[in-house]
Amino acid sequence: MMNSPIIAAHSVTKTYQAGEIEVHALNGVDLAIEKGQMVAVMGPSGSGKTTLLNIFSGIDDATSGQVIIDGVSIHGMSDGDRTTYRALNMGFVFQSYNLLPVLTGAENVELPLLLAGKSASSSRKKALEVLDMVEVGDQANKRPSEMSGGQQQRITIARALVNDPAIVWADEPTGALDSETGGLIMDLLCKLNEEREQTFVLVTHDQTVGSRAERLIFMRDGKIESDEVRSKASLIN
Ligand SMILES: Nc1ncnc2c1ncn2[C@@H]1O[C@H](COP(=O)(O)OP(=O)(O)O)[C@@H](O)[C@H]1O
Ligand SMILES: [Mg+2]
Repeated sequence: MMNSPIIAAHSVTKTYQAGEIEVHALNGVDLAIEKGQMVAVMGPSGSGKTTLLNIFSGIDDATSGQVIIDGVSIHGMSDGDRTTYRALNMGFVFQSYNLLPVLTGAENVELPLLLAGKSASSSRKKALEVLDMVEVGDQANKRPSEMSGGQQQRITIARALVNDPAIVWADEPTGALDSETGGLIMDLLCKLNEEREQTFVLVTHDQTVGSRAERLIFMRDGKIESDEVRSKASLIN
């Protein structure tokens, strides 16, 4: 028997009102993602990838339907509970790094822990461990403006992982990087997925990123057009 999925979506729709026009960004999405899966969501621009990520992660509300994370309906929670739930259980990696420019690498990474009420010393210790894990320990005392794009994206990944989230959501994680650096970031995400059994949902329009994922979901016009699961063994070259 299969384990119950960590992410389950039932008939999810999202309609945006753009002036007089309704945009059906999600048009009835059903999806179940197992714990530890590395999933890539691909599809043309405007097909609903970012909307799917924002709604499945509870950043935004669905128009109708349900999203169940680890057995809990996230849209049934109050805004405050949902924010806390996200802070404790989810990590986010976006294309534009969203690092705070006045803070150092270590300060950016420890921030989620401080906000969650952890002590300054334990937060710094954990931040330095995670920076080492993603191979930017030497950037701990630099500000983002003193780092390369790849280093900044690693800092963003460290910040997403510092609370040991069950699910990591990434929207175009390699979008601002050259292809070689993007490949190294994918090596890192695949390694983390393998070693830590975290679930990754990556939105990307990059074919090489999609080809590295265990499961490839293709969206078109707010619907899942295809959904292909490959064995992990077939991805190792
Ligand atoms: N805040 C918004 N208001 C109105 N329309 C939106 C909004 N966000 C996205 N859309 C529309 O919803 C559709 C899906 O967008 P999006 O999820 O960003 O697609 P993708 O990430 O695949 O490029 C597009 O037609 C887009 O223009
Ligand atoms: Mg998008």
